[in-house]
Amino acid sequence: MDSWKRLLLENKAWAQDKASHTAEDRPGADKPEFLWIGCSDARVPAERLTGASSGELFVHRNVANLVVHTDVNLLAVLECAVGHIGVEHVVVCGHYECLGIRAAQSRETHGMMDAWLNHVKDTWRAHKDELDLHDEAAAHRRLVELNVMQQVRNLARTTVVQRAWKSAKRPTLHGWVYDPHDFLIRPLVRVDADTPLDAVHQLTSLD
Ligand code: CO
Repeated sequence: MDSWKRLLLENKAWAQDKASHTAEDRPGADKPEFLWIGCSDARVPAERLTGASSGELFVHRNVANLVVHTDVNLLAVLECAVGHIGVEHVVVCGHYECLGIRAAQSRETHGMMDAWLNHVKDTWRAHKDELDLHDEAAAHRRLVELNVMQQVRNLARTTVVQRAWKSAKRPTLHGWVYDPHDFLIRPLVRVDADTPLDAVHQLTSLD
């Protein structure tokens, strides 16, 4: 059987198995409390990692779980989740053994991915002295963590988040990393609403 046909067959079986459906699977479920920004190649879906139900997470995924200031896709998701739905928490969750981070750590070209991965290389360069102290495996794990923390900083610099902090005292920003060997999520950083930003990024005319 073609592999893609198996997906459709499994979908049909699940759709007809009404007993396995939960209220959260249906439209109009409770509004999500979390925006989850994860990596495209993370093996385990966020809902399975966290035990969240279908309606609890608003999910965005891209290579290396980046928050890029000019990424209109991410910004639209952020505006939707934070500005319109009103999520209380935004989680950036990276993972060790990340193909995107590994690609950024290599010096080979990855074609169209290079421009995207340069954002990870910027973080690598900013922390090169520390990363050079580690062996390859440890440097990878540390860059995964540093990358997550940088994306949380980037979130706090967006107009969407600063506006919501000012008007609604939310969302709280979280940087987490997931280890595919023990399935545990380790919190790295938490940034509460109204945390003072550096003067360069603090927006003052948000009304
Ligand atoms: Co990844």
